Amino acid sequence: MTGLVVAMDGPSGSGKSSVSRGVARALGLRYLDTGAMYRAITWWMLRQRVDLSDPEAIASRAPDPVLAIGTDPEAPLVTVDGVDVLAPIRTPEVTAAVSAVSAVPEVRRRLVAEQREIIGVGGIVVEGRDIGAVVAPEAPVKIYLTASAEARAARRTAELTGTTVEAQKAEMARRDTLDSTRRADPLSMAPGAVELDTTALNLEEVVAEVLRMIKEKV
Ligand code: DC
Repeated sequence: MTGLVVAMDGPSGSGKSSVSRGVARALGLRYLDTGAMYRAITWWMLRQRVDLSDPEAIASRAPDPVLAIGTDPEAPLVTVDGVDVLAPIRTPEVTAAVSAVSAVPEVRRRLVAEQREIIGVGGIVVEGRDIGAVVAPEAPVKIYLTASAEARAARRTAELTGTTVEAQKAEMARRDTLDSTRRADPLSMAPGAVELDTTALNLEEVVAEVLRMIKEKV
């Protein structure tokens, strides 16, 4: 297991984070949330008042923020220029802006390189949109998590306050369209990935199924 890389991709609300953390915990592996890295850069761009409707402005500032991200599934850590951004990267403001920032090739090039560095020799569960296709195409285990739009929106609504399932469904549909139609590394199922539909399963059942898939492969 020490050199294992598990690539976990899928749309927002498919359960990637909880499942990836659960699998990492069960196997004593590290865990990398690549979405948190795109969110952290987005938080910084908003704070620097970079014009997010201008991809060239985003590209020119992409190298500037200093990012640190932890890989302990029990102790999440994300800092930008030394500031703890764990909570602010989950705000609606960042969530609404992250697709525009993550569509810029210069941002992706930078973060993909950092993600490969962190993955290193392996022993890690990595979640995102392009892990199996771009970041770690050699990963022996690639999983593509899906769930119905209703199930995804209901899960997200339960995590948040002041929103409704209908509002979440609309917001997620907007982000999925942006993430899967962008030119640079769109969300898609990687060659060799196994699709796992989690609509009718609870967290423990999904983790158990992923552990079974890993055992089968490794
Ligand atoms: O998983 P998340 O919702 O925290 O991800 C936030 C955004 O980051 C998502 O809308 C698309 C982008 N993202 C990406 O482009 N590539 C990744 N590997 C992970 C996230």
